[in-house]
Amino acid sequence: MAKDFETMEDSNRSSNPSIHDVSNPSRRLLLQSGAMGAMAALLAPLAACSSVGPFAAGPKLGFQGIAIGDGDKLVVPDGYVATAIAAWGEPVGIPGNMPPFKFDASNTAAEQAVQMGMHHDGMEYFPLNGSSTHGLMALNHEYTDDGLLHVGGFAGLTAEKAKKAQNAHGLTVYEIALRDGAWQMVRPSRYARRFTMDAPFSVGGPAAGHAMMQTAADPAGRTVLGTLNNCAASQTPWGTYLSGEENFMFYFSGGDNVSAHHRRWGMRKDGAYGWEKFDTRFDAARNPNEPNRFGWVVEVDPMDPTSTPVKRTALGRAAHEGAWVGVTKDGRAVVYSGEDARFEYIYKFVSRDKIAPGGARANRELLDHGILYVARFDADGNGRWLPLVHGQGPLTAANGFADQGEVVIKARQASDLLQATKMDRPEWLSIDPHNGWVYCTLTNNSSRGQTNMPGVDAANPRANNVMGQIIRWKDAGDFDGATFQWNHLVLAGDPSNTRPESRGNIKCDIYACPDGICFDRRGVLWIQTDAAAAQMYQGELQRIGNNQMLACDPATGETRRFLTGPTNCEITGCTFTPDGRTLFINVQHPGETPSERSDPAAPTRYSNWPDYRPGGRPRSSSVVIRKRDGGVIGS
Ligand code: FEO
Ligand code: CA
Ligand code: CA
Repeated sequence: MAKDFETMEDSNRSSNPSIHDVSNPSRRLLLQSGAMGAMAALLAPLAACSSVGPFAAGPKLGFQGIAIGDGDKLVVPDGYVATAIAAWGEPVGIPGNMPPFKFDASNTAAEQAVQMGMHHDGMEYFPLNGSSTHGLMALNHEYTDDGLLHVGGFAGLTAEKAKKAQNAHGLTVYEIALRDGAWQMVRPSRYARRFTMDAPFSVGGPAAGHAMMQTAADPAGRTVLGTLNNCAASQTPWGTYLSGEENFMFYFSGGDNVSAHHRRWGMRKDGAYGWEKFDTRFDAARNPNEPNRFGWVVEVDPMDPTSTPVKRTALGRAAHEGAWVGVTKDGRAVVYSGEDARFEYIYKFVSRDKIAPGGARANRELLDHGILYVARFDADGNGRWLPLVHGQGPLTAANGFADQGEVVIKARQASDLLQATKMDRPEWLSIDPHNGWVYCTLTNNSSRGQTNMPGVDAANPRANNVMGQIIRWKDAGDFDGATFQWNHLVLAGDPSNTRPESRGNIKCDIYACPDGICFDRRGVLWIQTDAAAAQMYQGELQRIGNNQMLACDPATGETRRFLTGPTNCEITGCTFTPDGRTLFINVQHPGETPSERSDPAAPTRYSNWPDYRPGGRPRSSSVVIRKRDGGVIGS
């Protein structure tokens, strides 16, 4: 999401400093010099190749980097082919219910409920019988552009339009196969599913049944209808899909008297989508607990079409980008996550139990029992995981935490009290399969260092950070380590900029606003970008072009541009077949307008990708990428 929602989410007004204990003057001086020293080191030229443009192939990155992107087209290197598939509105393949997409946006809400949702984001390929040519795809539909979604756009919102928007959110599972040399959706399919705002999700973990989760429609507090603003995704070692509920709060209206709790989570008087006018669930003045039922990591078993997905509350409530699993040497799951909002936090959860053999069914409660931690990055390059455990430290009833359920529901407030480090909008994470270092994109934070806002710290070292950075850490001993060492892989930017904080230290091809990242099996880190349409092609982003995907050798920092997207899109989603020979990515919101809501009278004003059809409209879509010679992607 390039969305405004992300850039305007800065509800963390807690007083915990970004560098800890700044009330001690001598410590403050030490830390400032430490941060500045770190900054100087970070800004020292690293680049062997420091200009924008294509670079020759190196040992790990076996393709010729491409030029920055412009124009309404998707570009990949010579020797590669990219094909759009599964665009918004395509029927997902539910037997007997496969209405075709109508390019004038006149599909009904009921039709949208069985078609691909809008604004594809994270996704994962699940092989059937280990196949690299036949599997299931699970993917997220993060949000909607109601200017494109309806005939006549958002104006004159009706119950039918609100329902269509709800049905264009959520998740999809569909079947996909490589047949006759081309990847195709397999339709109909017994696996095909949509999870819209009507789909039941059960609740697992310490918030299940909690008083703060109970509503008039669900007095037990154990069944939630729907999932919201699903952003990044990952696949667990036991074969399930994890999806993060990100900017859920903007769907709720708080009215004139928003509680301090909901204010801390960014609730505003009005909802951004107007759903509260037709669905009282989203009127938080009437249903104050409904927002507590969102902001979770959800777990889906795509292989079982009858399975009910679960909201995993033990992982904490947050504006979750997503969640990613590491496995300790003794077989426990460690789930890393962050929340994409300014000055919010990075978390990890360590499961109590070991992963059981037997796949999803054998691990139904694995993520319901364990310990949640929040990260503190210290200026000396070390860090500590602070336990979010009821009764420990300040997390007591006297401070507003009656039990562990309340700790996870109010994870932000708990993290404030523990003085966790306020980050520059944590987006995706990925774990290096070769050495266990965990990488996290911090996409940007233009509020850093501004008046009345937290200043720079060692982990978030740039004021008015419009470019973003990628941080990485290694837990001491194993993934469950209580401490870690950390550093930055890179500060993104353009060395041609005059302002030092916007130059960065990228080695080779430049980019801004890293968002999606994923390691492939060879240990190449793939980086995807999400600069907002309102900020692209101008100012300090002028020379960076369209959003893009790059490959980075984390050992050397060498970074090469692999793909550039069509106008005003975001590149996101990243999943490979097991053989590494097919890569799937998503192009989200091609043609995004600066206001982020398209003019229904001019839907193709900025883009008409991928159909380029007269009278059509741009569509978020997945993209299949193959090498012409059938080789491993990136090799
Ligand atoms: Fe949905 Fe933070 O990107
Ligand atoms: Ca983003
Ligand atoms: Ca994102």
